Order: sequence, then structure tokens, then C-alpha cells
Amino acid sequence: MILAIDGPAGSGKSSTARAIAARTGLLYLDTGAMYRAVALRFLEAGAEVTEKDAVDILDTLNLDIRYENGDMILRLDGRDVTGLIRTRDVATMSSRVSTLAPVRKKMVEEQRRIAEQECAIGKGVVIEGRDIGTVVFPEADVKIFMDADPRERTRRRIRDLKEAGESPDEEEIFQEIVDRDRRDRSRDLSPLRPAEDAIFIDTTNLSFSKQIDMIESAVRERLG
Ligand code: DC
Repeated sequence: MILAIDGPAGSGKSSTARAIAARTGLLYLDTGAMYRAVALRFLEAGAEVTEKDAVDILDTLNLDIRYENGDMILRLDGRDVTGLIRTRDVATMSSRVSTLAPVRKKMVEEQRRIAEQECAIGKGVVIEGRDIGTVVFPEADVKIFMDADPRERTRRRIRDLKEAGESPDEEEIFQEIVDRDRRDRSRDLSPLRPAEDAIFIDTTNLSFSKQIDMIESAVRERLG
């Protein structure tokens, strides 16, 4: 069972994907976190966003993904970076490095490997990102595309940042979201877009529990 959830930042896909995984026992795979870990490596190495630097970074990349109580823990060279990858700088950088072919190739291979390993032992995955239904798993059992008005996505992002102790400026966050969307949707390789057979859910005015209900009924409907 592969449940693919795609959508832009703040569409609600991470929280719903995590909740669905917890309810169903499927493995939760956050592919954005993987691009963020690579971005952190670029930032720390002072690397340029070029294919050449990407090849060097990927050559020595030691990215380990493991699970603790269903939560995905990322280690970069043995160091837990699960929290470090959640900054605004890393978000912007992840959107930039994810335009590079060597980065996408390596991440997609790794995502397929993890999901296939899980399916091989009779389980499945809820995998979320930007290109899951279109590129990583075009044969996914169920594909969901979540979206929401950018102003609403900004409000959600600000709420998260405030919870993390930051006091962000609304217009700055709005601009970051709009810029990141534009880059993710317009890049040449695997741009963010709904797969033709994806179920589209606009979460602008939906509560969290309603989002979960809609996805669960979509899954039941698709799987008969
Ligand atoms: O989901 P997120 O905001 O953590 O993702 C961070 C960035 O990673 C996003 O702006 C684009 C990139 N990304 C991608 O290109 N493909 C994916 N499947 C997931 C994320």
C-alpha cells in the first residue's frame, strides 16, 4: 500500500500524513525532510547551488533515516539534524538544491528503496512531498494533492514559528512561501503539480479532523 500525498508548504500534508500513518500503521516518509538535510549540508559546507558542488556533496553524504515511535529521525554524519532542518534558511535552500538533477536522482532512489523495503515486508507507506504521485510512485495506490490559499498557508506557518519561539513578520513569511511555491512549481525537473489521477483537497477552510476524514474516505473509496 502506497499512499502519496503531494502539495505545497503549509497545505496541511505533513500533519495529515503523519496522523494517517499513525492510525493505519503505515510508515511515514517525509521526503521534504530529506531535501532539507541535503540543503543543510550545502549551507554548512558553503557550497554553491551547482551540479558540480552537488556531486561532491552527495558523494560523501551520510544520511541515515530511522524511526522512533513513528517519528522520522534524520542523522547527517551521525548527528541528529531533525530539528536543525526546520529553519527558514534551510527551507529556502532546500527548494533551491531540489532543482539539481543529481540531488533529485539520489533522493528518489533512496525514497523508492525505503518504500519498497517496507512493502516487501507486507507493510506500506504514507509518503509526502512534491513529486510523489507524478515521479517517485506514479503507480501509488492512492494519490492526494493538498493545497490552500497562500494567505492561509502563511498564517499556519506563522503559528508554527511562534510555537517554536520566533516572532516572524507576516509579509516576509508570505513572500518566502510565494517564492518557494514559484520555484517548486516552475522548475524543469519534477515540478510540483497534481498527478492526473490525484484526489484534490483544498484545505483553506478545512479543520484538521475534516482533512483526515476526507483522506480516509478517499482511501476507502479508491481501495474499494
Ligand atoms: O515539504 P518541505 O517544505 O519540507 O520541502 C522542502 C523543499 O524540498 C521544497 O520546497 C521542495 C523540495 N522537495 C522536493 O523538491 N520534492 C519533494 N518530494 C519534497 C520536497
